[in-house]
Parts: sequence; structure tokens; C-alpha cells
Amino acid sequence: MFGAAVIGCGLVSKVHLDALKRLESDGHVSLEFTCDVIEERAKQSMKKYGFKHYTTHYEDVSRSKNVDLAFVLLPVSSHHKVSIDLMNSGKNVLVEKPMALNTHECQEMIESMKKNKIVLYVGHVKRKNEAYRLAKVYVDKHISPVYLIKSCERWYGANHFLMNLWRANPSLSGGGIWMDIGCHYIDIFRYIVGEMKNIYLMCNMFPEDILKQIKRYEKEWQQKVKDSYRNMEEFESYIKKIRLEGNSLSSIEFCNGALGGIDVGWCTKSPEMYYERTEIFGHGGIIIIESHPFYQPISPRIKIYLENNGGKWNESFNLPFVVDAFYQQAKDFIKAVENRDCSSAFDGKRAIDIVQAGYLSFAKKQPIEIENNGDDTF
Ligand SMILES: NC(=O)c1ccc[n+]([C@@H]2O[C@H](COP(=O)([O-])OP(=O)(O)OC[C@H]3O[C@@H](n4cnc5c(N)ncnc54)[C@H](O)[C@@H]3O)[C@@H](O)[C@H]2O)c1
Repeated sequence: MFGAAVIGCGLVSKVHLDALKRLESDGHVSLEFTCDVIEERAKQSMKKYGFKHYTTHYEDVSRSKNVDLAFVLLPVSSHHKVSIDLMNSGKNVLVEKPMALNTHECQEMIESMKKNKIVLYVGHVKRKNEAYRLAKVYVDKHISPVYLIKSCERWYGANHFLMNLWRANPSLSGGGIWMDIGCHYIDIFRYIVGEMKNIYLMCNMFPEDILKQIKRYEKEWQQKVKDSYRNMEEFESYIKKIRLEGNSLSSIEFCNGALGGIDVGWCTKSPEMYYERTEIFGHGGIIIIESHPFYQPISPRIKIYLENNGGKWNESFNLPFVVDAFYQQAKDFIKAVENRDCSSAFDGKRAIDIVQAGYLSFAKKQPIEIENNGDDTF
């Protein structure tokens, strides 16, 4: 049985805590520590999920002899230091995506993983969404070679910024939507199609639009502003100064000749606030995936058209809920620890390499060649 700790009890922690609770019931983990610099959050999570201790200092987790698995669910700027400190204390770490602020930090995290002979796992949870897992199986068995893969994901930007102030500050977040959501699809594209050769990225941002979104929902969102321990004036001044991309469109060329497009944005104004669709076209057929926000207990949809199946569309119903991917991810993290499988850390770094190549392309206004000679051996 592995002892587990959660560091960072904010927005995403609920889905990880739910997953850990299920793993405790399955007899796989004991719930040792919750940790947050905001004491109330750490204490509430401890009580609600039945952990043994809470703390406001992650060093207590490092010192604990009972913790084997640490879930680092912090603002991106803290991933590097906190993960390395935990790994130096012999803890296996699951760190949320994006792995770190830049390639250099990711490399240092990998060095620490190697030196300490433990596992660093990066939370690219879309791989654990059953629709994307099935897509990979069908591509490998029936559809490959792929000619084209396209993904689109849209969020309501104002909501995003209201939840977490750090997201609006590039030195804490590492970037805007391309970093935050683009990295998910870079990982999915590599998982399903393979390595990339070139990328061209375009981005824009309309802060006044985010403010308009806020005004429309101002009343309902007072509580969110309060929960995020700041007032509307502070939020407004932040957003007006914002220098992050809110929409990004990329064109990708894969090493195998396939083309890809990632289209992610904080620009939707529709009441449901979310849209996610991935299309895959290949020699043997077509796959269309429609999914939902990470926290929803709703099944994703996958439609598959196979040439070798009489050219018919088939749709899978009743797939595991989108949110179940976090349970699958936690289980796979444990499996990786048992087998000393370190591949997730290399995939996490690769996503950041490509995020950065995208930003370079945007700055230079030209396609950037992606280097493919990275160290991915243990
Ligand atoms: N996989 C997904 O679908 C998904 C979804 C949402 C967020 N995320 C990722 O999860 C991470 C956290 O995002 P979030 O939305 O939960 O952020 P958040 O701001 O809601 O939560 C972060 C928490 O960490 C606490 N914290 C900050 N520094 C700390 C420290 N040094 N020690 C202990 N606690 C500290 C904060 O008080 C806060 O409660 C980010 O990397 C984000 O990109 C992933």
C-alpha cells in the first residue's frame, strides 16, 4: 500500500482527491497529508476526504516516512522547485500539466528523477480519457497512416481568470491558452500520431472582451471573486494589463507527413462555456471525438468510420465519464511506480519543448523546426 499526499488544494484538487478516495477504498493507498498555503483549504480537504494530517508546509510531506506518492497540484511556477524537493526526499511525484515553465526546468526535473531513482509522472490526463484511448487503439489497428488530426477546445476566458489569478501572470503560468490547453493536445497528437517536425503558431488576445464577459456575469461571479481572495477592481487592473494569448491556432507537420491543427481559445460566449472536438482522418477511416470539461461526470462521445467495416459509422456510448480519467491516471501512476516506468516525464517535457517552439514561431512569425533528438532514456 502506498501513502499519498496532495499538495495544492485548489480547483483541480477535487478530481484528484475523489480519485484517491476511490483508490483508498480499493486498498491501494493510504491518505496521509493534504497541504495548501491557505490553511483552511488544506484542513477542509483533510476532513472531507479523511486524510490523517494537514499542513501548510510541503516540507512536512517531504519529511514524512509514510508518504510514497505526492500529487503536486500547484501553479505552474511552483512545479519545478516543489517536485524536485519532494523527489530529493525520495517521493514519487505526479505533477499536473504543464510540467513546468520551460524546457530547462523540465530537464532539471528529469535529472532529479534519474538521480533519485524514483518516478516523475506528468498529469496529461486526456490520454486517460477513454475516447482518446480508444482512438489510439483504432488508429494503430485500422486507420494508420493518419493524414490529418485537428483539435478544438474553447473555454469562457473570464471564468478561467476569475478562478486563478496566477493564470493571468506569465511568470507564474508560463503562458496563456497555448501553454495551458495547447499542451494537452500536443501530448494527444504525439500519443496518437507520433513526433512532430514543424510548427507555425498564431495567437491573439482581447482583454476588453474578457472584461465584457465579466460584466455580463458580474453578479453571479461575486462569490468567485471572493473565493479567489481579491476584489473586482484588482481583477480589472490585472486583465487590462494582460499580455497573454487568449486564442491560438497552430499548423503542425508530423515526421510521418501527417498534418495537425490545434485551435484553442478563451473566447467562447456561449452559456455552456465549453467546446471540445477532435477529428482524425487516415487511410483506414475517420474518428470524431466530442468531450466535456475535465470535472464532468459525463461520457465523452466517439464516432468511428472504418473502411474495412463496410464504410459505416459506429458510435460508442456509455464510455467512462470524462472525470474518471483522473482515477485511471492515479492508477497508472501507481503502476508506473511499481514498474519504474519513467516515460511520462519525457512526454511531459516534450510537450513543453513543443509549446516553446510554438511561442518562438509566434515571435518570429515563421514556422519552427522541432528538434527530435531529446534524451528519453532512463
Ligand atoms: N488536468 C487538467 O485538466 C487540469 C485542470 C485544471 C488545472 N490543472 C493544472 O493543475 C495545476 C493547479 O491548477 P488549479 O487550477 O488547481 O490552481 P489553483 O490556484 O486553484 O490551486 C492551487 C493551490 O495551490 C496552493 N498553493 C500555491 N502555492 C503553494 C505552495 N507552495 N504550497 C502549498 N500550496 C500552495 C494555492 O493556495 C491553491 O489553493 C496547474 O498546473 C493547472 O494547469 C489541470
